[in-house]
Amino acid sequence: MDDAKAGNDARERLEAVLDGLEAAVYAADARNGEILFANRSFRALHGADTVGLVLHGLVVPLPERGDYRVDPRGLGVDDVPCELFDGELPQPRTGRWYHVREQAMRWVDGRVVRLGIATDITDRKETAETARRQEERISRTARLITMGEMASMLAHEINQPLSAIVNYCNGCAARMQAGADARELLPAIQKAAAQAERAGKIIRRIREFVKKSEPRRTAVPVAAILDEALAFAEIDARRRNMRLVVDIAPGLPDVRADRIMIEQVVLNLVRNGFDAMKDASGEECTLTVRAWARDERLVEIAVIDRGHGISEENRECLFQPFFTTKDDGMGMGLAICRSVVELHDGRLAVESNPEGGTIFTFTLPVEEAVRE
Ligand SMILES: Nc1ncnc2c1ncn2[C@@H]1O[C@H](COP(=O)(O)OP(=O)(O)O)[C@@H](O)[C@H]1O
Ligand SMILES: [Mg+2]
Repeated sequence: MDDAKAGNDARERLEAVLDGLEAAVYAADARNGEILFANRSFRALHGADTVGLVLHGLVVPLPERGDYRVDPRGLGVDDVPCELFDGELPQPRTGRWYHVREQAMRWVDGRVVRLGIATDITDRKETAETARRQEERISRTARLITMGEMASMLAHEINQPLSAIVNYCNGCAARMQAGADARELLPAIQKAAAQAERAGKIIRRIREFVKKSEPRRTAVPVAAILDEALAFAEIDARRRNMRLVVDIAPGLPDVRADRIMIEQVVLNLVRNGFDAMKDASGEECTLTVRAWARDERLVEIAVIDRGHGISEENRECLFQPFFTTKDDGMGMGLAICRSVVELHDGRLAVESNPEGGTIFTFTLPVEEAVRE
């Protein structure tokens, strides 16, 4: 076998291997982008015969687009081989995504070429995107539930060390009265101190929780906030045999808000409304959530119930933390709602419903107005 034939054989074998690859492989003149070699996958991706064409509108990085850190057009033979590109690019025609890696090297005829390989990663990317979305949803849901339930849960938790401390102290007092030796009291006092530390840890956890949920305000459609919050409220309404009516004025502008926090506010107000209607029946078991533009700068949201209403006396303390009239209440709901609304430069107001019951309203700033 002569040398030329051996060289040809080797090239054919290499081409057969490259054609067998699922990844698209190409070599292009580094100076002008003319394609010198393309394997079967690359040709299938870009149609018929791509060799001889210039790399435009194909799934390849482009120097004109600033895809490279070092412009390959200026590379000389002494600069190669070197890594040129490693990134993800979309195929504009099909919308599929490719991981593309390019290297600069010396071609058989002495020219500098870009040798590239592109692998289809659309499926992998889609799976990752779905997983990310799902995770976001789960953590949003978790936050919605936890913020509402957090207060009562933590209060319960903090109650345990506190009552333990009370017991230890009472025990000590009783023994001291009975003339016990100071040393006998030591273990009980140490235990009380340990319980106090435990309570401290719980409080630190609350602080961390609050820190984590600092507002992240973005432009959000009002309907998006209400849809999400009321999806939770619907479940409550069905369970309690109550009706939930939603009335969103058409064409509302986006508001600037931390959507999860505002969802939480709506949910808290709705649940309070349901609680207030627990002895009502028939038509009166209707809770209405209404949203409309108050003016160009503010959107107003109202939660309207037909419940037992609020006495003059209670109205004074509604927003104070831990004020509650419910057996299982925590009294944190309205306090949290008010601070969230104020973080949004709004005001949470309460008035009597002329038809019986209570109306809570709050405002959110219109995105456009904030940006001006
Ligand atoms: N829609 C409402 N109708 C009548 N009373 C309400 C309403 N919302 C809140 N309240 C009163 O305000 C109190 C405090 O509410 P909140 O801060 O949410 O705490 P909680 O719901 O745990 O009691 C309630 O216990 C109730 O007495
Ligand atoms: Mg409440």
